[in-house]
Amino acid sequence: MTLIIAPTGKALGAVVTGIDLGSPVEDAIAAEIRMALCQHGVLAFPNQRMTPESQVALTRQLGEPEVHVLSDFAIPNMPEDFIVSNVRKNGKPVGAVNAGQYWHSDLSYTAQPTFASMLHAKEVPPGRGETLFASMVRAYETLSDEIKTKIEGCHAIHDYTLAYETVFADNPDRILTEEQAAEVPPVKHPVVRRQVETGRRAIYVNPGFTRRIVEMDAEESRDMLEALFTQATDPANIYTHHWQVEDFLMWDNRITMHMAMSNYEASDVRHLLRTSVTGEVPV
Ligand code: OGA
Ligand code: MN
Repeated sequence: MTLIIAPTGKALGAVVTGIDLGSPVEDAIAAEIRMALCQHGVLAFPNQRMTPESQVALTRQLGEPEVHVLSDFAIPNMPEDFIVSNVRKNGKPVGAVNAGQYWHSDLSYTAQPTFASMLHAKEVPPGRGETLFASMVRAYETLSDEIKTKIEGCHAIHDYTLAYETVFADNPDRILTEEQAAEVPPVKHPVVRRQVETGRRAIYVNPGFTRRIVEMDAEESRDMLEALFTQATDPANIYTHHWQVEDFLMWDNRITMHMAMSNYEASDVRHLLRTSVTGEVPV
């Protein structure tokens, strides 16, 4: 089996063919996938007939699977397999509704944020519900020297409750209980982090979870975060994934941020299965 890795031609991302992820993946191939992921930031594997079991097995080959704080949205008896969906059963959502419809990097609000996240598309609205990815490596590299100097050595506070104060403020489907909030206290990370495998540097703040830059006063921090987000979300810095059923997608959260589009109707079904792998303490 030979992996065929075709870069998207955008700021990040590659399409990978020549592999069947529904069958066990050799460790050497999993290592190759991991390396390609570090290099390209996003990998799209079209047409993968995977079961939750095969998704979790591959996830384990890439590292330690994570269990999300919203544990109600996991597949029964598979805490590592989380449902991202707008489907309702008996009036209750079966998975996380409106997941990630704002720019963010997964679990940046934890001490050891997610390395890789993976989604398998079971049902998607035709031509809608895209996911956007931004290259935080290119975003860093294209900053002015003045900004690079200003953020050198700085740290930022990341806090899951920020998203609940802003994007989820009026969303009855997205409630964080006090117990859940207590499990995810705010954390501090470097504003620029290093991807350990390649040595590349990436901006590591995001609109969803980053409250402020510690070394700056409130106004300076707000202006700097805004400047960094503007840079990162420049169209030239983005790959848009247009979903097809049975697409399997993975991304490296250390060097990217992402956002799901909310451009489909409530009657359109969007149902994906999600696994993720924990990462190192950011450096
Ligand atoms: C996620 C997420 C985006 C999407 O699963 O981490 O942000 O397109 N999902 O569903
Ligand atoms: Mn996400």
